[in-house]
Amino acid sequence: MTFDDYLANYRRKTSKSRRLFDRACKVFPGGISHNIRFFEPYPFFVDAAKGKTLHDVDGNRYTDYWMGHWALILGHSPPNVANKLAWQVKRGTLYGTVNEASVKLAETIQQLVPSAEMLRFSSTGSEATMYATRLARAKTGRRVIAKVIGGWHGFNTTLMQSVNYPFEVDEGPGLVEEDGQFIESIPFNDLEGSLKTLETIKDDLACVIVEPLLGGAGCIPAQKEYLEGLQEFCKRAGGLFILDEIVTGFRLSIQGATGTYRLDPDLITLGKIVGGGMPIGVVCGRREIMSLADPVLNKDKQARCAIGGGTFSANPVTMMAGLATIDYLKRNKERVYSKIDRLGAEARQGLTKIFSENKIACEVTGTGSVFLTHFLSNKVNKITNALDVALSNREMLSRYHRALIASYGIFFLPTKMGAFSFAHNVQDVKNLLSTTSKIVESKALA
Ligand SMILES: Cc1ncc(COP(=O)(O)O)c(C=O)c1O
Repeated sequence: MTFDDYLANYRRKTSKSRRLFDRACKVFPGGISHNIRFFEPYPFFVDAAKGKTLHDVDGNRYTDYWMGHWALILGHSPPNVANKLAWQVKRGTLYGTVNEASVKLAETIQQLVPSAEMLRFSSTGSEATMYATRLARAKTGRRVIAKVIGGWHGFNTTLMQSVNYPFEVDEGPGLVEEDGQFIESIPFNDLEGSLKTLETIKDDLACVIVEPLLGGAGCIPAQKEYLEGLQEFCKRAGGLFILDEIVTGFRLSIQGATGTYRLDPDLITLGKIVGGGMPIGVVCGRREIMSLADPVLNKDKQARCAIGGGTFSANPVTMMAGLATIDYLKRNKERVYSKIDRLGAEARQGLTKIFSENKIACEVTGTGSVFLTHFLSNKVNKITNALDVALSNREMLSRYHRALIASYGIFFLPTKMGAFSFAHNVQDVKNLLSTTSKIVESKALA
């Protein structure tokens, strides 16, 4: 079977999706409402989702490894969350003022996440990282934000710098050169290189913001010493250390990477899992920094850091879904994390074995429940940062993922990291491995 046969199969079984996509292209630029959701020849349209399974409009089922941008750690619509949501929707979806569930969720986060002394909710992670960097500038009175090359912190203007390859080129029209004037890029997992750059800007350094695991850029865990080195530099230089835990929070452990790596960040951003399947962002951290946003303490606008929250911040539906999810994780943490981490390890080992037995050079990266296969090329023989990912054989990875979708009912958003949820099981790993073997044997990747 060639790759074209896989594509033909996909087209045959997704004719309703094709028609919907034609309509979508007339109303959405590119037919989508988030750039990464498009893949060739067109994405299938989802009709329903339950547990680990997506159901499309043509009646096909897919075991989901994308899991709502990795947000759904308990699976799609887990009963405990769905019941709480149904109850809350009847009582109102948006009060537009304060509610008890938000206090409970905030107290739960405060109790679980080291350094989260105070917090504020927003509706997206992009807002949370924007607020975190604004707070850092407010606290330090400095301007420069250092971010990792390839680091992804959402679509806000501040951090939309050195995201996509080629990293040194501006991210595109609509952003002006001045937007990047106070952003400095540092190389991921290269402490010496990062410190060298940071040293040159240390007097104006407001913060370093870093993901403990490069998620969007290719599922690469940060080395502990790298994060510790950045943290230490920040403390010495008087800039803030911000850990973007929007992916890793409640994913790597109940305490996120902050707990796993025993870090002491000044600010942390959270999102995804903590919203229980509903939109969310959280900026949290030290009391004296978060207090800069206190409108009661800082009546004078010149003393107040203007971070918002937005119309939908702390809405009771999100708060209920988040509480139900985090409560479940808290009560079942041993069971949940040992299961999903074991599935992740088995997938990484199994995939590595299959590709190496078939003499296909690859590296399966990840940690805990997340993983991604990278096909190596004559340009790159090891995956340590976003540049290595960009130079690896992305076309082959895309073909591999699209062949899984086309003929085996397995969904990875093509080229993106996969994540296990508590709804997955050992049989899913076996299926993933056996179908991968079939695709390798079919020569569709060549
Ligand atoms: C590490 C990280 N930070 C921030 C964001 C932005 O979050 P959102 O998509 O909710 O705006 C993302 C989204 O994938 C992310 O992975």
